[in-house]
Amino acid sequence: MPRGEILDPLYADPEAYDIAFGWDSFGETAGCVRVAAELLGRPVRRALEVGCGTGRVLRDLAKLGVDAVGLDLEPALLRQARRRMRELSLSAELIEADMRDFTLDQPVDVALSPINGIGYLTEPDDLARHLAAVAANLADGGVYVIETNFGPIEPRFFGKGEPWTFERAGTRVMADWRLLEADAETGLVTNEATLIIQRPGQPEQRVVCPQLMRKWDQPTFYGIVAASPLRLARMLWRNLSPLDPATPLTYADDNVFAFLQR
Ligand SMILES: C[S@@+](CC[C@H](N)C(=O)[O-])C[C@H]1O[C@@H](n2cnc3c(N)ncnc32)[C@H](O)[C@@H]1O
Repeated sequence: MPRGEILDPLYADPEAYDIAFGWDSFGETAGCVRVAAELLGRPVRRALEVGCGTGRVLRDLAKLGVDAVGLDLEPALLRQARRRMRELSLSAELIEADMRDFTLDQPVDVALSPINGIGYLTEPDDLARHLAAVAANLADGGVYVIETNFGPIEPRFFGKGEPWTFERAGTRVMADWRLLEADAETGLVTNEATLIIQRPGQPEQRVVCPQLMRKWDQPTFYGIVAASPLRLARMLWRNLSPLDPATPLTYADDNVFAFLQR
């Protein structure tokens, strides 16, 4: 694939993608960095957003005053992230790389993977490869914060979407994320992502594309973590309240934050 080509049609209009998925995450990011610093036993100086997309969390990290590093496979999204940081007079290092296999020039104290970004690890050994890659780029005692929820997905969730709309500077984006089917054995899930983009004076644009992702059940996820160079150090609910890792979680639960430590 030549450099600069869009790999996934969902990102063909990075500004529209950013409007649809660009909600304010500062409180969550600050809370996660605070808990990671507690586990680390010192302030966080350098942090990585894995699969940073247009740099939503990257912006939060830079605002928190840490050296921010963003990594993504999609050059168009990295360009949008760079533009965003420049507009906000913030700085970040942006790296085009695969989260399953990357080497930073300096280790980070904390890495974060927001909103189920690990779901893009669809091949059977991808998550193990990814955890090994992140661990190799973490400082001693460094923390990897994964936001996710767990499968299996019951059929009652299929076909249902929860459309939402955001508007920025006159551009209105209606988005939907619909679960189509899931393979209970492999955890592979087919979603349909929709963006309806309305810009003043321009014809409406519609992006509808499948998104193949993987959803691990909680015991499988814990097992892959246990076999990795990282250990499960803490779990938090999405609202950052404590969560006993032994609490059984299902797809009906909201996203949680898993703190893995090197
Ligand atoms: C769910 S989006 C999250 C974007 C951003 N972190 C946020 O919270 O708004 C997942 C991101 O992971 C990226 N991605 C998918 N597979 C990847 C891979 N193998 N290596 C690096 N990035 C990847 C996609 O390009 C996309 O930007």
